[in-house]
Amino acid sequence: MQCSWKSMVLLALASIAIQYTAIRTFSSKPLSLLCPVGLATTGHAVNCSLRDLTRLGQRTHILILATTRSGSSFVGQLFNQHPEVFYLFEPLYHVQLALLPRLAQSRNLAERRVMLGAARDLLRSLFHCHLSSLESYIRPRPSNHSTDKLFRRGASRSLCSPPVCEVPLGLEEQSLVLSDEGECVKRCGPLNVSLAADACRAKHHAAIKTVRIPQISDLRALIEDPRLNLKVVQLVRDPRGILASRIETFRDTYRLWRLWRATGHRPHNLDLGQINTVCEDFLRSVSLGLARPPWLRGRYMLLRYEDLARFPLQKTRELYSFLGLPLDRSVEDWIINNTRGSSDLSSRQKFTTVRDSAANAENWRVKLSFDMVVYTQTACQPLLELLGYKTVFQARELRNLSYSLVEDRTAPPFFLNN
Ligand SMILES: *[C@@H]1O[C@H](CO)[C@@H](O)[C@H](O)[C@H]1NC(C)=O
Ligand SMILES: *[C@@H]1O[C@H](CO)[C@@H](O)[C@H](O)[C@H]1NC(C)=O
Ligand SMILES: *[C@@H]1O[C@H](CO)[C@@H](O)[C@H](O)[C@H]1NC(C)=O
Ligand SMILES: *[C@@H]1O[C@H](CO)[C@@H](O)[C@H](O)[C@H]1NC(C)=O
Ligand SMILES: *[C@@H]1O[C@H](CO)[C@@H](O)[C@H](O)[C@H]1NC(C)=O
Repeated sequence: MQCSWKSMVLLALASIAIQYTAIRTFSSKPLSLLCPVGLATTGHAVNCSLRDLTRLGQRTHILILATTRSGSSFVGQLFNQHPEVFYLFEPLYHVQLALLPRLAQSRNLAERRVMLGAARDLLRSLFHCHLSSLESYIRPRPSNHSTDKLFRRGASRSLCSPPVCEVPLGLEEQSLVLSDEGECVKRCGPLNVSLAADACRAKHHAAIKTVRIPQISDLRALIEDPRLNLKVVQLVRDPRGILASRIETFRDTYRLWRLWRATGHRPHNLDLGQINTVCEDFLRSVSLGLARPPWLRGRYMLLRYEDLARFPLQKTRELYSFLGLPLDRSVEDWIINNTRGSSDLSSRQKFTTVRDSAANAENWRVKLSFDMVVYTQTACQPLLELLGYKTVFQARELRNLSYSLVEDRTAPPFFLNN
């Protein structure tokens, strides 16, 4: 079927208008009425030259802007579990690996700029479902649009379920087995990138999680791109919590911090670089977000991990309301299964890391020594104030978990959603 000349013009106008007005009313009355070729729902093989434009107008693109060990996997799941969201876990990993093989976080300005430029271009392509753009960064380079080297492919449900992955098993068995990331990779075989792109087009929305974009200002070109309809969720966490978690996870990089904890003496050559970077990036980015520049209106939401851990359902509802998307039952079920909200202690997921991270947002208070806490909070003082994390002055305060270190910051304008 073909679109008539008139409906094409209407579509074009509507698509433009959509960028500047609330999309909710439009998306509840799909534009596909004008061009009834399936659009977002049927994926490829749609014969309408304005298909892309229309589809993109309807879609919401979500970027989770985070840093390592700030709870971003948990937030990613809030989208991964939604049946209408195509979710990618950290695709920028490949950009960093290809462009800056040795440096985790380059402090060289020129290198950083090149990385960020490439990262932005890739994000734009991925949101538009041009997944083949990712191939030039994957090592070894995929041949025939097929690869078994996609980083954390198993973390993306869409990439582990039909039609991308047809596992020769019964349905129940399939969903059980593939709840495990490693199992997905083992059973699904190499990823067919063309099929993955089709799966992306077939979903109404797309979400990408990244820890490789330092600040919201780095995303300005994407946020201002009227074809993209990008909304950014900046996830933050108490830097003392990030530190404690990184010490456990990145044992080499944070070796000296472990030494400090074990011996009680701060090593002379302790590097505050990483934690300073976290605090500076957060401080600049959040300050900008809260200053509400016109280009960020309606496109930026600040989310504290601690709030999410304490009130997962409520915060997730606020999140979806900011995005203007309906919250799906399966997301709520997942939250109930994977947080303290669950009273079923025999639940299969009881011991998964996800569950732990939600339950233990504040367990850094018993993992770091008092000296380490003081040292870190001194370095990050302005940020702690901005985000509403309390400084501790005595070990007793630190260890007394009934004394909360998280100030209530739920009211606007702190919690920015318009
Ligand atoms: C699109 O429509 C034209 C004209 O009707 C037709 O010739 C062509 O085969 C169609 N293409 C697809 C992919 O359906
Ligand atoms: C590419 O994939 C197609 C379809 O699976 C196959 O027929 C072809 O031989 C493959 N080509 C290469 C170079 O692997
Ligand atoms: C990937 O899927 C496409 C679409 O179904 C198919 O044409 C192609 O042969 C597949 N490629 C490989 C390498 O299997
Ligand atoms: C939640 O847990 C129940 C019982 O273990 C299970 O049947 C259900 O599939 C789970 N739902 C999700 C979304 O994880
Ligand atoms: C722990 O904190 C609570 C709440 O601030 C306080 O009531 C209690 O006295 C504190 N306990 C100790 C042992 O300091």
